[in-house]
Amino acid sequence: MFKDLVLKNRSFRGYNEDRKVSKEELFELIDAARITGSAANKQPLKYYVASEKDEVEGILSRTKWGGALPELHLPKEGTHPTAFVIILQDKKIQPNTQAVMIDVGIAAQTLLLAATEKGLGGLMIRNFGLDPLTEYLGLSENLMPLLVIALGEPTETVKIVDVPKDGNINYYRDEKGIHYVPKRELNEVVISKK
Ligand SMILES: Cc1cc2nc3c(=O)[nH]c(=O)nc-3n(C[C@H](O)[C@H](O)[C@H](O)COP(=O)(O)O)c2cc1C
Repeated sequence: MFKDLVLKNRSFRGYNEDRKVSKEELFELIDAARITGSAANKQPLKYYVASEKDEVEGILSRTKWGGALPELHLPKEGTHPTAFVIILQDKKIQPNTQAVMIDVGIAAQTLLLAATEKGLGGLMIRNFGLDPLTEYLGLSENLMPLLVIALGEPTETVKIVDVPKDGNINYYRDEKGIHYVPKRELNEVVISKK
């Protein structure tokens, strides 16, 4: 069951705009993320939540999606996410950004697994304009966005495939819009003496 959840938890770039994500649901996801491991248990992360249409659009316009498929201009009109959680570094707690990045990954994956269990899905986004986003959110000086997470009910089909012989790891789509994500095979990623 756990493996099914991990398999289902893909990066989605198209959502059902009629399925709103409530603040309560967002709080539940953050409640799972906030109890994960943290280096020296400093817990330097804060979580900005947005689920109002105008604000979601404002955040979306400051992010970049699907860098390997620029011609598709994802997400398409009518398939925008319905919420965002933005993971922030509280520099008053930990000023060193590198020291919080592992915490961010653990929190983000946990949040997305919790979303997947609820029939939701998301996308981690590192490609955003830091200054425009910080200004738009009106964040105080100690809070810096590190990872934007889009959320909603996914409408896309995503399939995992082996990395082809030519080694190309770029994701791609077929004529039906099915999204394929090449992953390195188990024997390629395991290192041992024998
Ligand atoms: C730290 C991190 C940052 C990412 N940033 C972006 C991004 O800015 N824009 C985007 O469209 N996808 C982004 N992704 C999604 C990756 O493209 C995606 O994880 C990869 O294609 C593999 O697909 P999968 O998540 O379904 O396994 C990011 C993923 C991670 C883990």
